[in-house]
Amino acid sequence: MRQNVFYLLVLAWALGGGAAFAGQISFEREVWPIFRRHCVSCHAEGKAKGGLRMDTASALQKGGETGVLFVAGRPEESLLISQVSGEKPEMPEKEPPLSADKVRILREWIAQGARIDVVPKMVVPVVKVPEVYATAPAVTGVALSPDGTRGVAACRSEVVLFDVDAGKVLKRVPTGMDLVNAVEFSPDGALIAVSGGYPQQWGGVLFLDAVNGAERGLRKVAGDTLFRGKFSPNSSEAAFGGPGGVVYVIPVDAAKPVRSMEIHSDWVMDVAYTPDGKRLVSGSRDKTTKVSSVDDMALLRSVDESSEMIHAVATDGETGVSGGNAKVLAGYDYKLALAGVEVTGSGNGATPVNKKAQYLRAFEGQAEAVMSLAVSGDRKLLAVGTRASEIRVYRLADRGRVSALPKAEAPVLGVALDASGARLLSGSKSGKVQIWDVKEGKLLHTLDPVPVK
Ligand code: HEC
Repeated sequence: MRQNVFYLLVLAWALGGGAAFAGQISFEREVWPIFRRHCVSCHAEGKAKGGLRMDTASALQKGGETGVLFVAGRPEESLLISQVSGEKPEMPEKEPPLSADKVRILREWIAQGARIDVVPKMVVPVVKVPEVYATAPAVTGVALSPDGTRGVAACRSEVVLFDVDAGKVLKRVPTGMDLVNAVEFSPDGALIAVSGGYPQQWGGVLFLDAVNGAERGLRKVAGDTLFRGKFSPNSSEAAFGGPGGVVYVIPVDAAKPVRSMEIHSDWVMDVAYTPDGKRLVSGSRDKTTKVSSVDDMALLRSVDESSEMIHAVATDGETGVSGGNAKVLAGYDYKLALAGVEVTGSGNGATPVNKKAQYLRAFEGQAEAVMSLAVSGDRKLLAVGTRASEIRVYRLADRGRVSALPKAEAPVLGVALDASGARLLSGSKSGKVQIWDVKEGKLLHTLDPVPVK
């Protein structure tokens, strides 16, 4: 009797689940989506943790520092399986473990020979830019050429170049990104950096010729969109915030390697260089503001922890500034905030922030959440865009208010100043770009960067 039950069970297995079990696993349809969703944000160009990249077929075959990722036909001897299974799976790092079903798919795939039938593509659907929009896309970022004559606005998947004095659109440039989060002019005026990407697929920076908008290079560095950042003062590279708490330093020269440091615990919303090009200030959704060293790509110190997420940072030579949802604009005196850190070179940034009362340089309170900050090329003036319809401009040296531009299109998602701080650009969620005379406190032009029905 007992034996009969056993045979029945075997028969049921063979007819039911067992048959499905024997099905061929498709790399393209079943395995790659797992890697793309859970792994490539940390295992791709510019951020190959453990020396492992998982974003191309050859990289998957090669494996990482420890060795090969998988042994075809032998799931139990494969690093891939040991990393994602067991009591406390090590991967994906800092994220919930893969579901039992996903682990089963990976195990089966290896058991069946670990065939990679199609080269994985990080780029998915072709991004289409509408000729005319049904509703105006939010302007997520703006930038102004150092001489103040040309502007650029980020509008969903395209960037728009315009003539500042005339308030006229010159050119619309599709970016291939689904979402552009920020635009920046290089200090030498030659290039525009466009940051963004395709949500959950890739993030990177597109360099454009500042005059005609021609492509000068695209660097994909992450598994999700990049956020804001700045060019280095010598225009040779740009630093941008990314997903997974990472700051990326991306050289304009495509032959030079992308560098990265994971110094925050959540999206890095904005990054800025000090005028000597030696330090970076970064602000994150993790609510902290940090200062790091560009040469060794290492954290120097966490200078602040806000009660809310940080949206924007800025800096001159003496003071770093950050602002966000807490409606507070805070400055940090580097000399005091970093005292001891660089002398010992130990990078003890993980120690709790102390002496804050001494180095904190508070600006006046802000009526609404701070969304965007911009510093003039001479690093004397600071423009502040918030959810409110007033754009304020401060002197960085003494934090005194210079100007308050009323009735701006709000919320202001992006602000920009030229080299001398004479012209200010603002971009709004409403889709409008506005051009201001800072000294006169006057609105010069309001323009629609893209045609709307
Ligand atoms: C949040 C970042 C992060 C994510 C996401 C992530 N990893 Fe990792 N991974 C790391 C880090 C950091 C290391 C190196 C540290 C270590 O060896 O413990 C690493 C190392 C590895 C290694 C060892 C490489 C070697 O040769 O030494 C394997 C294998 C690996 N990861 C597989 C995966 C897989 C598979 C996924 C997706 C299911 C994944 N990782 C997702 C951060 C991540």
